[in-house]
Amino acid sequence: MSIWGRTPDGTEVPIYTLTSGQIEVRVIAYGAHLVSVKAPDRNGKTADVVLGYDKLDTYLITPNPYIGAIVGRYGNRIAGGKFTLDGKTYQIPQNDGTNALHGGPKGFDRYVWKAQEVPDGVEFTHVSPDGDMGFPGTLTIKVRYTLKANTLRLDYTATTDKATVVNLTNHAYFNLHGDDKGNILDHKIEIVADRYTPVDAKLIPTGELAPVAGTPLDFRKSEVIGARIDADNEQLKLGHGYDFNWVVNREPGTLRKAAVVTDPVSGRTLTVETTEPGIQFYSGNFLDGKFTGRHGSKYERRTGFCLETQHFPDSPNHKDFPTTVVKPGETLHSTTTFTFGVVK
Ligand code: GLA
Repeated sequence: MSIWGRTPDGTEVPIYTLTSGQIEVRVIAYGAHLVSVKAPDRNGKTADVVLGYDKLDTYLITPNPYIGAIVGRYGNRIAGGKFTLDGKTYQIPQNDGTNALHGGPKGFDRYVWKAQEVPDGVEFTHVSPDGDMGFPGTLTIKVRYTLKANTLRLDYTATTDKATVVNLTNHAYFNLHGDDKGNILDHKIEIVADRYTPVDAKLIPTGELAPVAGTPLDFRKSEVIGARIDADNEQLKLGHGYDFNWVVNREPGTLRKAAVVTDPVSGRTLTVETTEPGIQFYSGNFLDGKFTGRHGSKYERRTGFCLETQHFPDSPNHKDFPTTVVKPGETLHSTTTFTFGVVK
């Protein structure tokens, strides 16, 4: 641990380095951000495979494209920022057109979390007060990052003193070439999902679970990301590329494979397993070169992709979706693993 910087009010922000073999992971207490992941290519040459900044000051800029952040209290979108729970209506500030996105304008990514070293990693804790961004209930969230062999594991827990809605995820942008090596359009991705949640023009799910079969969203067999990204498809036009929630096959609650990404150039692979019901594959369509990464390279459109394991967007307004409600006395548990490998 060392102190990486200070927030404007003088709060120290520690940075932690986890290492295992050739993998090195760095995380900070501000927003519990994943700052860096160094992983070897097929020749043993390491590169940073997540987008990230070289100093705290850049993480403090708002708005920020959530590069590496833990997002909450509600990751992804809530239509109109509005939902009803136990007969009461709650309004979250709208920060994405009329939607609330990633918990509203001051989400969990904007706070210094408490940090504690644990075996193989670090655990971050944040307490979100009752009424924070309009959400009911004091919520205590823990995110534990651990690195063992070539697997980075994220364990999330949350408890509340009033019924509330919770959807937590990590918003890392990966680029398996290395974060300063152009776009991710030549990477191949497999998504283990027969269905996805189609969206309307505001990227809010219609409520349908539609088959991927016969669409450019079918990644049941590994496909090149760029091959169909600009296809004449209504959903792709609405998303400006890939920015959808896939319904991961098999029962949520058990850790199962959700996605595998391969970079044919470096040979690096990323396998994502999760207990979550869904995964948002976002192809970095809104990155626009405004943010400069750690190597001085501009993070342009599609220079990183996100695999945000999650409950479905706008679940508080869809009774048929897996529930995001957490009640007093219950503990939310969620686990996601990112495994880094190589192919010859
Ligand atoms: C999520 C959303 C995207 C975008 C990014 C942040 O992944 O689904 O539409 O808002 O966050 O830029």
